[in-house]
Amino acid sequence: MKTLVIGANGQIGRMFCSKAHQAGFPLRAMVREPDQATWFQEHGIETVVADLEDDFLGALNGCEQVVFTAGAGGAGPDKTLLVDLYGAIRTVDFAKAQGIRRLIMVSAMRSTVPQSAPDFLRPYAAAKYAADHYLMTSGLPYLILLPGRLTDEPASHRIRTVRDESLPITISRENVAECLLAALRYDSLCNQQIILLDGDDDIDGTFTRLSVAC
Ligand SMILES: NC(=O)c1ccc[n+]([C@@H]2O[C@H](COP(=O)([O-])OP(=O)(O)OC[C@H]3O[C@@H](n4cnc5c(N)ncnc54)[C@H](OP(=O)(O)O)[C@@H]3O)[C@@H](O)[C@H]2O)c1
Repeated sequence: MKTLVIGANGQIGRMFCSKAHQAGFPLRAMVREPDQATWFQEHGIETVVADLEDDFLGALNGCEQVVFTAGAGGAGPDKTLLVDLYGAIRTVDFAKAQGIRRLIMVSAMRSTVPQSAPDFLRPYAAAKYAADHYLMTSGLPYLILLPGRLTDEPASHRIRTVRDESLPITISRENVAECLLAALRYDSLCNQQIILLDGDDDIDGTFTRLSVAC
């Protein structure tokens, strides 16, 4: 099952692509600029150049699964609407049109209750809330990962999936990449939202438990 990775050139995207390729999962990395393809080609990973703001339907051709880990970052409110919201919505529509078997969305913990986010994050959290709602009601099998605030620590391979505001609400990008990899391993795991925070539970054991419960 080939997986299209949207946002492949991002920090989580590159780590995930590298790990998933090494684990033997067929991938296609979607990047925005031709020169971004070089790194992936050097790692033996297929690429497609496409932009969420343009027509990217063709990028999905021949893929059966999509990982969406793109985001506008600090590019401004217009890009939050065009990439985090509308880009995600169009991904859902294209995925349905192409018969994609599962869409794995990297969302954000704050997207479940945007009012709980700090003021500066609320527009982003609201955009992700709306995109996630669109995905969950689309009829497309989905898995929505809800990381807390991202850090650049190396992977601890240990997470928690329960929100507890008395504890730190961070997770390393590499742990998120490891969770995406675990999600590929459990291809029957779907129609769940999973909070991701650094914690004490082994990632593989957590995904085993979640997949048994689904
Ligand atoms: N920061 C946080 O604390 C936090 C918390 C929870 C969830 N998240 C989510 O996690 C995601 C991944 O995090 P990250 O650190 O890996 O982000 P990142 O390094 O900023 O990567 C985002 C990727 O999205 C791509 N992108 C932006 N606009 C695009 C477009 N129009 N078409 C196609 N691709 C586009 C970027 O492309 P280029 O490489 O060309 O720029 C980049 O590769 C974030 O985007 C965010 O939604 C973040």
